[in-house]
Amino acid sequence: MGFPIYRPRRTRATENLRSMIRENKLSVEDLIYPLFVVPGKNVKHEIESLPGNYHWSLDRLPEVLDEITELKIPAVILFGIPSYKNATGSSAWDMEEPVQQACMLIKEKYPDLVIVTDVCLCEYTEHGHCGVLENGCTVNNDATLPLLAKVAVSHAKAGADIIAPSNMMDGYVQAIRAALDENGFSHVAIMAYSAKYASSYYGPFRAAADSAPSAGDRKGYQMDPANSDEALREVALDIEEGADIVMVKPALAFMDIVRRVKDTFNRPLCVYNVSGEYAMVKAAAEKGWIDEKRIVMETLTGFKRAGAKMIITYHALDAARWLREE
Ligand code: PBG
Ligand code: ZN
Repeated sequence: MGFPIYRPRRTRATENLRSMIRENKLSVEDLIYPLFVVPGKNVKHEIESLPGNYHWSLDRLPEVLDEITELKIPAVILFGIPSYKNATGSSAWDMEEPVQQACMLIKEKYPDLVIVTDVCLCEYTEHGHCGVLENGCTVNNDATLPLLAKVAVSHAKAGADIIAPSNMMDGYVQAIRAALDENGFSHVAIMAYSAKYASSYYGPFRAAADSAPSAGDRKGYQMDPANSDEALREVALDIEEGADIVMVKPALAFMDIVRRVKDTFNRPLCVYNVSGEYAMVKAAAEKGWIDEKRIVMETLTGFKRAGAKMIITYHALDAARWLREE
């Protein structure tokens, strides 16, 4: 059935008509806001590579938590800058460190806010890799698993609702699920960074989290951006091992993967709109080359159209405000 019988413009003529046939809608419940917690007192320090986002010490964290809850954003994902680093990253499971302390504070003062915690070792190891090293260069998969399990259990003890392991070790979901269950946390969910690519879009995050590898790269554990079928195998594996929610990361350059995962698996799907994607928008907006609000809303709606439900984004506070204005 072609022109002139079908004229697609008929249903585009007014905003009400357009809203009637609109297929996807971004809402505030889709958003997860990343927070960076640091040791010390009285810290609210803007992150240079992520303008509009801050390093927060525990005592000032309520400032942003009030804003998040007031805007009705349902969840945060916590990243920590530890007070010490070593070869195994043991500060990652230290109950006195910022992430664990922040979980306790949120559970007590903001009981309805969903706490997601990133489980990785790169912020906590002195070499900046996501696991323990053998021969000083390759990450030993199976020696890393029990450490990741310890981190997950420490987060659950502190009050985390969802554990989000981002380390890309084989068998990580199984190891974490088993440890959570053994320790009485069978109710704590796992959001697996299932299809996480070895991407150049993580640069601004690594500057913010001080987590860049001091030597080498992450290509031995994160996925090759050239691959698509492999992403489906990764997701299948994580679901088999007990992932409740699966993730594709980064988002923008991997929208095809989001769609394939959505069409193939019956699991809640999250995308991570990563730091490099955010930084590019902020830089172009600062130059006056793009309309930040419209670009951000178009992009976030695009993630929903591609098949994602949850969106981790540094734009969450702005997006929630813009959604409220509409
Ligand atoms: C830790 C981790 C990274 C990100 C989330 N968790 C960095 C990395 O893998 O190097 C990146 C997030 C972003 O770029 O916004 N492994
Ligand atoms: Zn890592």
